[in-house]
Amino acid sequence: MSLISVRDLKKTYIVGDIEVRALRHVSLDVEAGEFLAVTGPSGSGKSTFMHILGCLDRPTSGQYFLDGKDVSRLSKNDLARIRNHQIGFVFQGFNLLSRTTALENVELPLLYNSAASKGSDRKRRAMESLKLVGLEQRTHHLPNQLSGGQQQRVAIARSLINNPSILLADEPTGNLDTKTSIEVMDVFQTLNKERGITVLLITHERDIAEYGTRIVAFRDGVIKTDEKIANRRIASVELAALPPVSVD
Ligand SMILES: Nc1ncnc2c1ncn2[C@@H]1O[C@H](COP(=O)(O)OP(=O)(O)OP(=O)(O)O)[C@@H](O)[C@H]1O
Ligand SMILES: [Mg+2]
Repeated sequence: MSLISVRDLKKTYIVGDIEVRALRHVSLDVEAGEFLAVTGPSGSGKSTFMHILGCLDRPTSGQYFLDGKDVSRLSKNDLARIRNHQIGFVFQGFNLLSRTTALENVELPLLYNSAASKGSDRKRRAMESLKLVGLEQRTHHLPNQLSGGQQQRVAIARSLINNPSILLADEPTGNLDTKTSIEVMDVFQTLNKERGITVLLITHERDIAEYGTRIVAFRDGVIKTDEKIANRRIASVELAALPPVSVD
C-alpha cells in the first residue's frame, strides 16, 4: 500500500465568471521514504496539488488515499487533525514571527495542540527539533539575527515539531543563494534518509529537483513526466567538496 495515492484528482477554482481548472486529472502513488521533487511552470498546479496532499484543501473530485484511508471527503476538522499529526510544511518565505526567538518559533505549533501542554515539555521538544537541523546554538536568536539558510532551518525545525511522516516544501530554496540552498537540501536529505520522512518538494529548478529520488513534472494541471533519478545529487558530498571559507 502506498503512503500517498491519488486517483483522477481534479481541482477547479471559480473566480467570478471564470473557471480555473488548476488540476485536471492527476493520478500518482508515492511510497513511504521517497523524496519526490515536483516541478513545472508557474500556474501548472504544483501548489494546488501540495495543498490537497497537505490536507489544507479538498479536491473538486477524485480520491486521495493517505495511508490507505480516503481523506478526500473529510470535514475540515478531521483534515486539521490529520495535518497536525502527520504533515509538516515548509514555505519559500520561512514565515517566522519576527519578534520571537528561534526556540519559540519552533514551539509555536504545540501551543495550538492541546495534547502537548506543559511548557517544559514544549521547550524540550523544540530543542530536539532545532538539534535535528543543527541549530542548537541559535535557540535565543531572533529571525533577523540569523542567515537566510538558518531561518529556513528554523522553519524546518518547526515543521518537525509534531513528528510528521510527510514533509511538504513549496520552493524552500527560492530565496536562497546556491551554497545555502545546498545546505538546506542537505537537511531535507538527512531527514529523509535517517528519519525515514517522506519528502515532497516543489521547485522551479532542475538542479534542486535532482536531490530527489524521483521528479514529477506538472503542466497545465496534469502530470507530464514522472522519472526516477538514477544519479541523484548528494548535498553532504557537495558541501564537503566546497573550498573552505577563508577567515582573516
Ligand atoms: N485560491 C485560488 N483561487 C483561484 N484560482 C487559483 C487559486 N489558487 C490557484 N489558482 C489558479 O490555479 C492555477 C494553478 O495555481 P498553482 O498555485 O497551483 O500553480 P503553481 O504551479 O504552484 O505556480 P507557481 O510556480 O507560480 O507557484 C493557476 O492558474 C492559479 O491562478
Ligand atoms: Mg506555487
